[in-house]
Amino acid sequence: MQSSQPSQACTNLISSLPSDKGWDNFSLILYQGFWFPSWLFDGVLACQKHFQAHNYDIILVTSPKSGTTWLKVILFALLNRAKYSDPHSERCHPLLTRNPHDLVPYLEFQLYLQQEDPDHATFASPRLLATHLPYSSLPQSMRDSKCKLVHLCKNPKDNFISLWHFTKKMMLKENSGQTPLPECLDKFCQGLSMYGPYWDHVLGYHKMSLEMPEKVFFMKYEEMKEDPCVHVRRLADFVGCPFSEEELRGGTVEGILRMCSFDNLSTLEVNKSGSHWTGAENKSFFRRGEVGDWVNYMSAEMGERIDSVTEEKLHGSGLKF
Ligand code: A3P
Repeated sequence: MQSSQPSQACTNLISSLPSDKGWDNFSLILYQGFWFPSWLFDGVLACQKHFQAHNYDIILVTSPKSGTTWLKVILFALLNRAKYSDPHSERCHPLLTRNPHDLVPYLEFQLYLQQEDPDHATFASPRLLATHLPYSSLPQSMRDSKCKLVHLCKNPKDNFISLWHFTKKMMLKENSGQTPLPECLDKFCQGLSMYGPYWDHVLGYHKMSLEMPEKVFFMKYEEMKEDPCVHVRRLADFVGCPFSEEELRGGTVEGILRMCSFDNLSTLEVNKSGSHWTGAENKSFFRRGEVGDWVNYMSAEMGERIDSVTEEKLHGSGLKF
């Protein structure tokens, strides 16, 4: 991961906050009830301080590894579909040549970690952005404005395995060995993971989606996998660009899903080669893309450990995985 030097203000704040060893070479800092990687703390603070949400912004909010890349491309394709509807323009679709994370940047990584107050003037409206920040840590303007938040989460066992694989790849790339799975599992269950506790992150958005359904749209990866057409149509309604009857008859929804499918995206050169500026290889965002992959890496007992935290944390919330 990126190892830029934190600013003095950031270093001072970090030294006053609890910290713990993360799953990789970087420590996690407990800030506003969540564990943030030390290397991106400057980006988190700058984003909280400077980002001004607009009423028409659409912000994708997720925990790492819950399927952000998939929903980034779906939202991008959905919002830009009019521009690329005929066969000629379809061949020039930006998703074919540009990485999803360049098209839909993360606020606290790509935008605010690189510059304290980046210029957003080049973004077309509606601006489509992403963040892993928990609801309670969002910049105030995001909560106060009428911007829309789309939240996607994944069942905690698959999310854990996906995060473990991703961290392992990053560690091997840096020749740092790898943190054993049982150790990561202990940390995950204690809430010690990037932007964790995982359950608190999900619950924050779930609660807001019940209180303000016009502002927060709550989605599950598993439900998207099971019936993507239905969920993409709902998503289009939520972001204010519903599919017309003509589009529905003409297979526009299916076309978007084909373009955004794991099989299509993972085989495009732009996603197979090159690296994200954080150092993560573009291909590391496409691993298996399947539900239930945890069984291939964890014993039943390990799975039960996560289940018991899930049960305890989600108790009374109405949310189930
Ligand atoms: P797995 O590691 O379980 O395969 P994020 O984008 O939040 O980093 O999440 C990455 C996860 O989403 C990975 O899960 C990845 O394979 C999966 N993913 C990426 N693109 C996808 C797509 N088009 N369809 C379904 N899953 C996808």
